[in-house]
Amino acid sequence: DITGRVPRPAFHFTPQRNWMNDPNGLVYDRGLWHLYFQYNPESSEWGNMSWGHATSADLQHWTEHPVALQYRDGEQIFSGSIVASPAADETLLTAYYTSAYDDDHQAQSMATSRDGGYTWEPDGRNPVLDRGTSAFRDPKIIRYTDGRGGSRWIMLAVEADDRQVLFYSSRDLRTWEYLSSFGPLGDTGVVWECPDLVPLAVDGDPTDVRWVLLLSTNPVGDDANPDGSSMGYVVGQFDGVSFTADAAELVRLDHGRDFYAGVTFDSAPDGDAVMLGWLSNWRYAGAFPSAPWRGAMSLPRRLSLRTVGGAPRLVQQTPSFVREHLAGAASSTVFGASWPYGFTLSGHSLIELEWEPESTGMLRLQLRGDADALVELEHDPLSNVLRITRGGSAMEAVHPDFSSTSTVELRRDRSVRLLLSLDGPLLEVFANDGEATASNLVVLGTGPIEAILDTTRHGPISVTSADVSAAEGAA
Ligand code: FRU
Repeated sequence: DITGRVPRPAFHFTPQRNWMNDPNGLVYDRGLWHLYFQYNPESSEWGNMSWGHATSADLQHWTEHPVALQYRDGEQIFSGSIVASPAADETLLTAYYTSAYDDDHQAQSMATSRDGGYTWEPDGRNPVLDRGTSAFRDPKIIRYTDGRGGSRWIMLAVEADDRQVLFYSSRDLRTWEYLSSFGPLGDTGVVWECPDLVPLAVDGDPTDVRWVLLLSTNPVGDDANPDGSSMGYVVGQFDGVSFTADAAELVRLDHGRDFYAGVTFDSAPDGDAVMLGWLSNWRYAGAFPSAPWRGAMSLPRRLSLRTVGGAPRLVQQTPSFVREHLAGAASSTVFGASWPYGFTLSGHSLIELEWEPESTGMLRLQLRGDADALVELEHDPLSNVLRITRGGSAMEAVHPDFSSTSTVELRRDRSVRLLLSLDGPLLEVFANDGEATASNLVVLGTGPIEAILDTTRHGPISVTSADVSAAEGAA
């Protein structure tokens, strides 16, 4: 039984105790990154939803604070966002969240903070945006500036069951005018949750900005897809009123099983789009055997658009502390090493692998801890597909749908570079500088990890590994 033997992540946020799901209210304000999150203050099961709170100066070390917005009788506090105040009122933060009332009714409410985000005052007129419906939720507020120097607030929120995103605008962050709706499109049999809309320059060209709509989709109903929840995105245009998609489908955002409800920070330095997601899946989130905490956030990811095969594709890059650790790590070329090549890692590690697919043939990396479980990454040079499999009896014991294989199709025309971040039960793989990602929960037990690297043609492969652990006392 793996319960109690899931190591707490060292460089990702986890709450000290109890249940966590979506990141909420991500905002950078006066030198601090604020993370709020869907939180049950009383148990490690979903329920009593409130906003927990944590802050970080570097997106690596987090400090947890008291609950920021607390559920009350008849009303839970569901997901939403925060915006830092306009220049005129520097100390004001405004939060928008979903009031989920017990009588099957969801509407948008606001709260303000004057002390830098630690205490919040819900507005006396809540809910301030109400359609009288039961699945209207997850407000995300962005600032829209038109080409003529005018600007206003835009709210996106979903009608989850209808697979629609509704757009509203406001000048005062209180009264909202309906603008348009987008959807449905893509898979049926899912609800849409946690939208975000992010302007990104294609290949860094500021004259070619596209808008990327991010969505989280969760299968519902009796024959729901057992793969469970995942995120998608679609690139398009936004003119301040409506969003027009360039494609008729959502593109999968992360190829693992465990990346959901990802949204970006408001007011990040340099206008960067920095996203955090919840590393779990509604299919089995409640069964994950960590204690006394349940739920972890992803590494922060900086979003950009890169032209791949003629079309703009979302790129997710790792934060600077990851690159700094790797730059300081010893790199070795394992050509000529005895094969298979084995090495030992701590359970909180970064590994970088780089190789030319045609010179190595099939490549396989296996990771084993002291639980009866195996993680295997396999790259097939013919199809250029990367497969990440988690299996073994310790994984099977988590949930009948937990064992899985994630597949990632990589670009053909280049060497392959993989960055693996393993932090306790969190395995995030970034391929080719963030062109593809795959995030999966794994249970490998405690203690060191035995890694075995093998190829069918034996090298050369350059391997960089860095053991990373956060300072003592970090959340
Ligand atoms: C997404 C979600 C949101 C909702 C929240 C409730 O994971 O279902 O739509 O606001 O979680 O905890």
